[in-house]
Amino acid sequence: MVDINELQTFEHDVLVIGAGGAGLRAAIQCAALGLDTGVVSKSLLGKAHTVMAEGGMAAALRNVDKRDNWKVHFRDTMRGGKFLNNWRMAQLHAQQAPDRVRELEDWGAVFDRTPDGLINQRNFGGHRYPRLAHTGDRTGLELIRTLQDHGVHQGFATHMECKIVGLLKDGDRIAGALGLWREHGRFVLFKAKAVIMGTGGGGRCWRVTSNSWEYSGDGATLAYDAGAELMDMEFTQFHPTGMVWPPSVSGVLVTEGVRGEGGILLNNKGERFMFNYIPERFAPETADTKEEAARWLEGDKNARRPPELLTRDVVARAIRSEVQAGRGSPHGGAFLDIANQRPAEYIKKKLPSMYHQFKELAEVDITKDPMEVGPTLHYFMGGIRVDADSQMSKVPGLFACGEASAGMHGANRLGGNSLSDLIVFGKLSGDGAADYIKTLEAPPQVNEDEVKALVKHCTDILNREEGPNPFVVHEEIQEIMGEGAGIVRQGDELSTAIEKLHQLRPRIDSVKAHSASQFNAGWHEALDLHSLVTTGEAVARSALLREESRGGHTRLDFEGEREEWSKYNIVVSKQPDGTMLARKEERPDPPEELAKIAHAKIEDLEAGNV
Ligand code: FUM
Repeated sequence: MVDINELQTFEHDVLVIGAGGAGLRAAIQCAALGLDTGVVSKSLLGKAHTVMAEGGMAAALRNVDKRDNWKVHFRDTMRGGKFLNNWRMAQLHAQQAPDRVRELEDWGAVFDRTPDGLINQRNFGGHRYPRLAHTGDRTGLELIRTLQDHGVHQGFATHMECKIVGLLKDGDRIAGALGLWREHGRFVLFKAKAVIMGTGGGGRCWRVTSNSWEYSGDGATLAYDAGAELMDMEFTQFHPTGMVWPPSVSGVLVTEGVRGEGGILLNNKGERFMFNYIPERFAPETADTKEEAARWLEGDKNARRPPELLTRDVVARAIRSEVQAGRGSPHGGAFLDIANQRPAEYIKKKLPSMYHQFKELAEVDITKDPMEVGPTLHYFMGGIRVDADSQMSKVPGLFACGEASAGMHGANRLGGNSLSDLIVFGKLSGDGAADYIKTLEAPPQVNEDEVKALVKHCTDILNREEGPNPFVVHEEIQEIMGEGAGIVRQGDELSTAIEKLHQLRPRIDSVKAHSASQFNAGWHEALDLHSLVTTGEAVARSALLREESRGGHTRLDFEGEREEWSKYNIVVSKQPDGTMLARKEERPDPPEELAKIAHAKIEDLEAGNV
């Protein structure tokens, strides 16, 4: 039996879980406010899904088109999110993103430049103007590099390759977390007055995903188990362009920057099919002829944008439809062609990673031949429900920011809004944690029984005689989610998925990993299964409840958006008996001023009339 006094222990004011962009920005803020801060990461510091936001970070800097401003960015974000976004979060994001981007530049981020030396901005789907500050097609990497370089001088502690296996509470409020070092399998106790989740999403619930192994939905599950609510879990973003061939790299991201730089989508008949998928809502601002799209490519600011730059949900569904109709590429995707749109030197300069990625992984020279691409699970719009200003969840002292939190992006995120989200809300969660800590009269106390129960739960996996192989169970979850809760959904298939996930629970509770605790990949896989199945169930239950199609959630049995559903979010919570409840919750009316901006005519916003 473990003796809590003998556990390796760290004490921090704030423990940040996750060391991607959101976690690092939160930690920088906490340290800058004088808090003793620790960052714990399941993987290496900065090895995060942040780097998969390659094409840029959205902010109305107005460097490339003076007509842009925060109100237009806010309006684009609300329209992209099908008006289900948290209004206040979308406002804070649009207003604060430019300062956060300039701050990164002050901290040493090297952005591409306009001819007159300003931060360059590129086009992306759903953004009315070129708005994405970028570093070639490695923007997420540059953001991480900058935050790491700046962060190491702020004096926060880093704990790498440590999986958090449970949050600890003192009564209702947060008291810390229990971790497990991946390398040698020993437990570590983190005592903390506040915890910030910057843990990203749960893409590994699906087989085809741009997410790497870390993204098993740990943040959402830890928070849910601790009493926080999850929200909008039905909205999962399938990025339209992942690699489809060879199979070993299927799902790896092909940046939207390719389309932002002029790339077009073709089917196996050589048809530019996106012209056939322009939704009514976007028809007035989308070019409906090749000639107009070509004028846009040549830089005509008055030409309407090509249909390849429609929002991700629209483009992903269009590719799926072409494949279903037998017009797909040889390996079940579409062709993405930039070779015939831009000179080779331009492609290599603006999209260096894509050039190397295809050369090395698929033996395709993208300056000469088209890429084969198809939808890949990329991002969770849903996550931990938080207060817009402080980022605190329902559990006092538990905060979340970036992809781990819900609300900012509504039913669908615009590309590029994630990097800006995590620097805006990473900072705000640090501010929120600092404010919360000031209200504490005494530090929270860790409950010894809670620690012992967690240790026993983890070590049972090693100690039992036999049980299912955790890697096989993970594949079963992916199979269930792919079949029942994929890019399109139906009520009966979702019900089957929920039932199957339910049936998996006893198997998950009895998985076995070989008994050595050091370098035990099977053990760590086994420990991820609870997060994977909980996250998957939250997605499937929410998707079953929402009887309409909106953004990243498409129901074949309930086509199109339904007005009555614009009034609800779906909220998931853990019941006292341990079961999961998904319920509809009415949304508050939007502030009048914001509603006016979101529904304004674009000319009025540009002219400053709204
Ligand atoms: O396509 C991309 O570069 C991804 C960007 C994002 O998800 O924001």
